[in-house]
Amino acid sequence: MAPQLMKRYILSHREGIDGLKLQADVPVPELRGPTDIRINIKYLSLNARDLQIVTNDYPAPHEVPQDCVPVSDGCGIVEAVGSEVTLFKVGDKVAPVFPQGHHYEEDLALRSLKRGLGGAIDGVAAEYFVCDQEEAVHIPSNFDCLQGSTLPVAFTTAWSSLYSHHPSLQAGQTVLCLGTGGVSLCAAQIALAAGARVILTSSSQSKLDKVSKLLQDLIPASAPQNAIQTIDYSKIDAWDVEATRLNGGKGVDFVIEIAGRATLARSIRSTKQGGLVAISGYMSDYKPIPDHLIKEDIAKVILYSAANVRGVFVCNREDFKTAVSALELAGVKPIIDKVFNFEDMKDAYRYMEEGRHIGKVCIEL
Ligand SMILES: NC(=O)c1ccc[n+]([C@@H]2O[C@H](COP(=O)([O-])OP(=O)(O)OC[C@H]3O[C@@H](n4cnc5c(N)ncnc54)[C@H](OP(=O)(O)O)[C@@H]3O)[C@@H](O)[C@H]2O)c1
Repeated sequence: MAPQLMKRYILSHREGIDGLKLQADVPVPELRGPTDIRINIKYLSLNARDLQIVTNDYPAPHEVPQDCVPVSDGCGIVEAVGSEVTLFKVGDKVAPVFPQGHHYEEDLALRSLKRGLGGAIDGVAAEYFVCDQEEAVHIPSNFDCLQGSTLPVAFTTAWSSLYSHHPSLQAGQTVLCLGTGGVSLCAAQIALAAGARVILTSSSQSKLDKVSKLLQDLIPASAPQNAIQTIDYSKIDAWDVEATRLNGGKGVDFVIEIAGRATLARSIRSTKQGGLVAISGYMSDYKPIPDHLIKEDIAKVILYSAANVRGVFVCNREDFKTAVSALELAGVKPIIDKVFNFEDMKDAYRYMEEGRHIGKVCIEL
């Protein structure tokens, strides 16, 4: 039996992390219909988006409702099912899908954000969460709920950058991953598990050293040295030239482009003709950008590289399920930097804000 009351966070204002308010004794949500499930949320994981929402820097085409429950990614155990639920049973480990209500569409665009958890509609920073059975997926059977909490935004975005569009990743190709945050490291893991090479960039050599060590698990001991290569972009300004050099003088096949205006031209120049620059983020919006980088003529950069450049929005439920199967079979486990207590969730946001993390920052309920 679920308790009657639960804890949750709401976002009381969007002027910073102090807008997060912990509420105790809120009624546990009821099932709304026969196909609903109630999930006892065990872990959350934070994405850059969660911080942007709290600090009012999120460039979404919708309002964030007053007192919205924050956080898009969580995982827990099914605790109650409606009379017509066929996809789950009590005790299953599940994660809600980030854009609720976009189950099968091949392409998700801006409208998916209007049903995004923890921004457009209430998120998962609560002990219990209710959704239709079509709005959740089983996590890989070899994941626990902590690992499962990293799936809905970061892994799905990485998956869809590499597999949901054309071209899609082939063994033996090279993926350039910008930065050492959630999306980029998930992409690096998926790529290595698929037999591709990765080149990672970071502002910090010590982050690169740590990440390279963690990623070694995904490649055989006999793999060549160039399976995982790194570039410290704080030291090497022309990192596009360096990426091409590291790739044997050829453009890379994929770029996981999460930084936006300051990096896009270089990402495109790093890419081979017909390769894919998958743009999901805009992290460089939060730092001053040198003039010469924003004055570049992007149309000509695209023209002369003949690369494909496309925006990527997480992925739909069907692709999410495919990603779950792939991770399960490949034995990929998420890179988790730190786990905070629910009561200390503001500290988790502050830690993200400082940018010291590699991979995922999580919260235990
Ligand atoms: N479109 C979508 O569906 C979607 C889904 C998820 C995320 N996103 C977006 O993708 C971006 C990343 O999200 P996340 O959750 O992975 O963030 P995160 O975990 O906070 O990681 C951000 C990383 O960005 C890197 N970075 C910052 N400025 C950079 C620059 N100029 N060049 C290269 N790397 C830079 C940093 O790496 P170092 O510290 O190693 O330098 C940092 O670790 C955000 O803009 C987010 O809003 C979009």
